[in-house]
Amino acid sequence: MALRRRIPRWADLGPLLQFDLQRNRRLARLSRVSSVEDLRRIAKRRTPTGPFDYVDGAAESESTHYGNRDAFGELTFIPAILAANDDIDLRATVAGETFELPVGIAPTGFTRMMQAEGEVAGVRAAERAGVPFSLSTMGTQSIEDVAAAAPNATKWFQLYLWRDREASLDLIQRAWAAGYRNLLVTVDTAVSGRRLRDVRNGLSVPPKLTIGTVLDASYRPEWWFNFLTTDPLTFASLSDDTSSLAALVNGMFDPTLSMEDLAWIREQWPGKLFVKGVLTAEDTQRSLDNGADGLVVSNHGGRQLDRAPTSFDALPVVRAAAGDDVEIILDSGIMHGADILAALAYGADFTLIGRAYLYGLMAAGEAGVRKVLELLEAQMRVTMHLMGAATLADLNPDMIRRAERG
Ligand code: LAC
Repeated sequence: MALRRRIPRWADLGPLLQFDLQRNRRLARLSRVSSVEDLRRIAKRRTPTGPFDYVDGAAESESTHYGNRDAFGELTFIPAILAANDDIDLRATVAGETFELPVGIAPTGFTRMMQAEGEVAGVRAAERAGVPFSLSTMGTQSIEDVAAAAPNATKWFQLYLWRDREASLDLIQRAWAAGYRNLLVTVDTAVSGRRLRDVRNGLSVPPKLTIGTVLDASYRPEWWFNFLTTDPLTFASLSDDTSSLAALVNGMFDPTLSMEDLAWIREQWPGKLFVKGVLTAEDTQRSLDNGADGLVVSNHGGRQLDRAPTSFDALPVVRAAAGDDVEIILDSGIMHGADILAALAYGADFTLIGRAYLYGLMAAGEAGVRKVLELLEAQMRVTMHLMGAATLADLNPDMIRRAERG
């Protein structure tokens, strides 16, 4: 896809290499990829440690992150034999629209730090697959550029509630004007979780060329070339006069926010509003009382409160509290189509992928994101066939047995 290039900031970009050769090798490599885990391995080889670990890591001991994965890995599907259907229908309806697959792309911050194509790769892959793309307030391409890159995609916008109400209002008005129709309001970021890998890696945003990163660069030349020859990393959702990154992040992660702020945003936003980061019955109720149309069951991929409930454990709790009519989206831990089906069988209407999307992006840009969505679809189709389900409405909790956990 087309990248907007700029003149390199360093004259001595030695390892500029033969990109055509690289591109062909990339496509050949992708054709042999059979799982998101394969893409993760490629991503790790191609991306400097700091950005890779920013995606791959989570808060503190990372136990919630691994718990999310284990919860999916430990369940048992109940098969149905000789109940096959020729046609598997994976279409799902959420937030007033029907999508080709029951999965969309979650909002992720700093995306162009992972791979220079960033959000534009995500939204184009989403457009092609007929699924929604969510742009983060901390996204690295502007609301308008992302919208223009994929005019037919369904775009959702993620907002951190933050103190500066005027700036919030400006952002969501821009998002509405650019055609974003569903607002995901993230509520689990009173402060940033402590991500120990970032501390150890001395991760800075944007990454700097130090002795360590130069050595690292010799193994990841294409990443550095792309990073240095495209627009510098900025928070494209924010206006030009935004101050430093530290000030921005501090403003976003704000411990003084309350349900009143949520109610205020609700009044300002004309579209659907989902509260993202709900894990308990109490917060389900409070979110609905303050005007949420739907909920995102999420522990932020284990990146915020370590030892928080896994998203899969929280799902039936939130579903019971919300009743049958409220739409619930689940994220955190989805790496396989079977994870998506398990979430739907257990009460979710839809799911989002964050890390899985970024592994594809880091592995191969837009082609890699496409590959992720293709893999998830293929995995879902096979699993549906083998479980004897034809449509997502056939999925129900009786199709799942859970191991007794400690
Ligand atoms: C994160 C923030 C940006 O999880 O949401 O990194």
